[in-house]
Amino acid sequence: MANRGNFSGRIGFILAAAGSAVGLGNIWRFPYLAGENGGAIFLLVYLGCILLLCYPVMVGEIAIGRAANSDAYGSYNKLGGKKWGYLGLFGIIAGILILSFYNVVAGWAFGYFLHISFGDLLNLQDFGGFFGAFVNDILDVSSAHGLANSNLIFSLFFMVFTAIIVSQGIQKGIEASNKIMMPSLYLILLGIIVYSLTLPNAFSGVKFYLVPDFSELKIQTVVDGLKQAFFSLSLGMGALITYGSYLSKKENITSSAAVISIADTSVAFFSGLMVFPLVHFLAFKLNINPTEIGTSGPPLIFVVLPQIFHEMGPILGRIIGGSFFLLVCFAALTSTISLLEVPVAYLVDQKKYNRKGVVWAMALIIFVCGLPSMVSQGMMPALNKLGFYRGQDFLTFISDMSDICLTVGGCLMSIFISRRWGIHNMDAELANGNNNYMTSRVRKFLHITLKWIAPILLGFLSIVIILEKFFGIENLI
Ligand code: TRP
Repeated sequence: MANRGNFSGRIGFILAAAGSAVGLGNIWRFPYLAGENGGAIFLLVYLGCILLLCYPVMVGEIAIGRAANSDAYGSYNKLGGKKWGYLGLFGIIAGILILSFYNVVAGWAFGYFLHISFGDLLNLQDFGGFFGAFVNDILDVSSAHGLANSNLIFSLFFMVFTAIIVSQGIQKGIEASNKIMMPSLYLILLGIIVYSLTLPNAFSGVKFYLVPDFSELKIQTVVDGLKQAFFSLSLGMGALITYGSYLSKKENITSSAAVISIADTSVAFFSGLMVFPLVHFLAFKLNINPTEIGTSGPPLIFVVLPQIFHEMGPILGRIIGGSFFLLVCFAALTSTISLLEVPVAYLVDQKKYNRKGVVWAMALIIFVCGLPSMVSQGMMPALNKLGFYRGQDFLTFISDMSDICLTVGGCLMSIFISRRWGIHNMDAELANGNNNYMTSRVRKFLHITLKWIAPILLGFLSIVIILEKFFGIENLI
């Protein structure tokens, strides 16, 4: 495979992988999961999952990709034979599923960015009502609120942005765009945090977020923490195999993976630090208890935050609110790029198709796969309450199924490394670019985690997650 493309060096790779990791998961899902699971205690469990399970899986994935120098399917196939190739295919399909609904939510964020920056969204009174109408009526161009409201168009645009970048290839597309968007994202995030900490009552939010209450520790906390950690680090479906395959043998994988994990975790942490002071500020303004503000679920950033921006007044609200949604769009775009690259790399490597053509064809197919998720938010009642899925909507169903694919994929990957490819082969790959690896403590840690801890714990938790999804965790314990 002469010219598959490659990252220009360590920084390009780290930024791209961190860009894949940092996404809606960090800014949209992490704060509300933390809110639902007791704040600080969730943070602790989450950090434990990252260290014990996610870091080893991440190193393993990157090593597989770089050793095989191929896409997700090709890598497993090359190192482990055809049967294992199916695990790669499973990952590619999981990636398509994720991107299909992810792009819908990214489209909402893009719509909100436009509405807040250039429209009159902040003049509304009923933010919940607006969000309900917004996601419900995907085609309406002149809604009851007088705002252009077509989230079909917004999400189509988002897919087009993604495709334009991916079609430019690894260095000119993926790497270059991440080099602009990732630093901007950090700057915006830090700027909003600094501002939010100056608001009245901000520190009561910080306290909720940072002081753990151990009585809140439940099995649900661990299950949610693990799912979130896998999703947030983009693990378990071959995105990092694909990115790893573009990494030079000179670079150090173990330290790069540490930087990527820290970059991702810090954005999740900072998002909480941005959101909780804002929520407590709103509670103060409205003179209610913060627990009365529904911070759970998707409405957190689409209903509660806009209301807060509204409280900030017309000019400041527009600036802070517009910056916030721009931040969300950047975070989402660096992730959708990595998701689209997975099937694209497969088709380019295995079927030798032309990159540009494949990018646009896949983007279109995945966009169409996302339509059921898009109309499941109210427009189509049949998809809004799935009978076989405890009355939940289709978007939630697909998102839950992808969570399952990731932990199952991660579990099988650790089995692949320790029982099929061979941990000594992974060692040999990791020693490239890291002269001290063979005698390091990281090596011992990776051996124990990938041989025993990851397969057993991920296997067990995957089963719990599957049972939880289909039967409800209350019924399990
Ligand atoms: N990690 C991203 C987020 O937190 C989502 C994402 C991008 C992803 N690529 C992935 C999740 C690959 C799983 C696998 O939003």
